Formats: sequence, structure tokens, C-alpha cells
Amino acid sequence: MRQNLRTMGDTNGTTIERVGVVGCGLMGSGIAEVCARAGLDVIVREVNEAAAEAGRARLVKSLDRGVSAGKLNDVERDAAVGRLAFTTDLADFADRQLVVEAVVEDEAMKVDIFRELDRHVTADGAILASNTSSIPIMKLGTATARPEQVIGIHFFNPVPVLRLVELVTSLMTSDVTLLRSTTFATDVLHKRVIRSKDRAGFVVNALLIPYLLSAIRMMESGFASADDIDTGMVEGCSHPMGPLRLTDLIGLDTTLAVSQSLYEEFKEPLYAPPPLLSRMVDAGLLGRKTSRGFYEYQR
Ligand SMILES: NC(=O)c1ccc[n+]([C@@H]2O[C@H](COP(=O)([O-])OP(=O)(O)OC[C@H]3O[C@@H](n4cnc5c(N)ncnc54)[C@H](O)[C@@H]3O)[C@@H](O)[C@H]2O)c1
Repeated sequence: MRQNLRTMGDTNGTTIERVGVVGCGLMGSGIAEVCARAGLDVIVREVNEAAAEAGRARLVKSLDRGVSAGKLNDVERDAAVGRLAFTTDLADFADRQLVVEAVVEDEAMKVDIFRELDRHVTADGAILASNTSSIPIMKLGTATARPEQVIGIHFFNPVPVLRLVELVTSLMTSDVTLLRSTTFATDVLHKRVIRSKDRAGFVVNALLIPYLLSAIRMMESGFASADDIDTGMVEGCSHPMGPLRLTDLIGLDTTLAVSQSLYEEFKEPLYAPPPLLSRMVDAGLLGRKTSRGFYEYQR
């Protein structure tokens, strides 16, 4: 694979072989996994050693699941693990040709990270991407001295399974950055790309979040049980899972943060977070990642 990548080149004439991922939670670990499986050299940054170790464990567990499901063999799993390194220091990202930021959905935190990445990442033409679900890319681009090299590369959860990637260009993103990102997502990661302008929620979350919030409001009002709401959408509309189980999978904290960004941008009541969602996040009931949300899960 590495050989193919070397000879393939991308639209800038520079093949992306060295990737950095900031954050190794649900999404960062998935992004790092698909990059390592595609033969790339990957460095992942977490806040401290314990978080890095938890991220590595999540990633290895996912690779093991891939082996059990027959998606890769032991040799490929070990090779992928061998391409991954973990750090707590963004200075280690100096030679990265693409960095994907996947920390929590918090604008101030992401702006700080883009400011730091701009300082540390010195590889020629390096692309600084965010996996944000809803924060305008322009706000991240203007935190750097190179907004033309900043783009949204929005993966879907679980990253190794779902093929979609939304590419989001700000008013400043260059055509070269878009072309290189498209080539990377399609030819290297074998993802299916859709394009979105730089509006909170982009395409998928602008449609999905009001649906999830409606389900929460329905449950909050006592109109129907969580189980009946989910069963209704699974059995009645052939959705692979119902909206409340999906909110648990996404994370209630992430769902709340995305709905707040959408509400801030559009001021439409359909994006306003229902009180039940806010209270559950206050209580630490974040869904699968804390073993409890609308449902309970085994660790
Ligand atoms: N959860 C989803 O289904 C989903 C889908 C698509 C996109 N996203 C987006 O992906 C991003 C991450 O979401 P997630 O669900 O993976 O969140 P998460 O809470 O699972 O993981 C976030 C990780 O970032 C780490 N982190 C925080 N600050 C950091 C820093 N300064 N440097 C390095 N790491 C740091 C945390 O320790 C944590 O491990 C968000 O922007 C979210 O909107 C989420």
C-alpha cells in the first residue's frame, strides 16, 4: 500500500503520507485507525498519558473487532498498530502533511488548537483539517496565518464502518486544499465525499439534529417511551437504529454542543436543545461512552 501511495501522488504533486490526529476519543481513534490501515504514518495527540493510553486501547479493540469480522488479518492489524504513535506534544507534528483535529465540540478549544497547529506544523503546504460537526471552518481558519489550507473533513461514526465524508470549504479555503483533501478521502481512505458550504451543521447534521431533538422532546413530554420511539423508526422507516439510541452512540454532550452551534447560527426553535438533553449532560449521562444515556450499556 505504501508503495502505491508513493507512486500515486496527489493534485499538489505531494502525496500525503504523514498524518496527525488531535484527540483520540470516539472519532479521533476511528480517524487514526482508517489512516493507519490505509498505510499512512500516524501520530495521535492526546491531553495526557492516561487519555493517550485509553485512546490506544480503543483503537486496538476496534482493530481486533475488524479481525474477528474478517475485515483484516492479524498481519494487517499488527502493521496498522506499528504505523501509530502517540504523543502529548503538538511539537511532534512538525512534519505532518495533514492534521485532522477531533477534540470535543468546543469552539474556543478548537480555535486554540488551530493557533497552536499553525505554529508547530511546518511541512510545506500542510493541510489543517477539523472533524467538527458544526463549528464554522472560517472561525478555525482565521485562527491561523494560512486559512487557505484549512478545511472541514467531517467523518461519521463509526469511522471504520461509515463511508461518508463531508468536505467543508470556508470562503478562504483554496482549490488546491479542496482537491488534495478530496483525493485523500476518496483514493487513499476510499470514502464517499459530499461537499458542503461553511454553514453550522453542514449537510447531514443540519438535517439529523432537528430529528434527534424532536425524538428527545417527544420522550420528554411523555408522549411515548424511548423504546417505542426507537422501535417506531426502526420498524416503520427501516432506520438501522432509532433516534435515541443514535443520540447515545453520538454522545449526548456532542449532540448538545452541535445543537447549540446550530441554534446560535440560525436562531430557529427546531435547533434549540430540549431541557432534558441539557440535564442529562449535566448529570454525566452522555450515552454509550459513559455506559448510560437513554439506555444502559455494558462497559
Ligand atoms: N460522536 C460523533 O458521532 C461525531 C461524529 C462526527 C463528528 N464528531 C465531531 O468529532 C469531534 C470529536 O468528537 P468525539 O465524539 O470523538 O468526542 P470524544 O469526547 O469522544 O473525544 C474527544 C477527545 O479529545 C480529547 N481532547 C480534548 N482536548 C484535547 C487537546 N487539547 N488535545 C488533544 N486531545 C484533546 C479528549 O481527551 C477526548 O479523548 C467533535 O468535534 C465532534 O463534533 C463527532
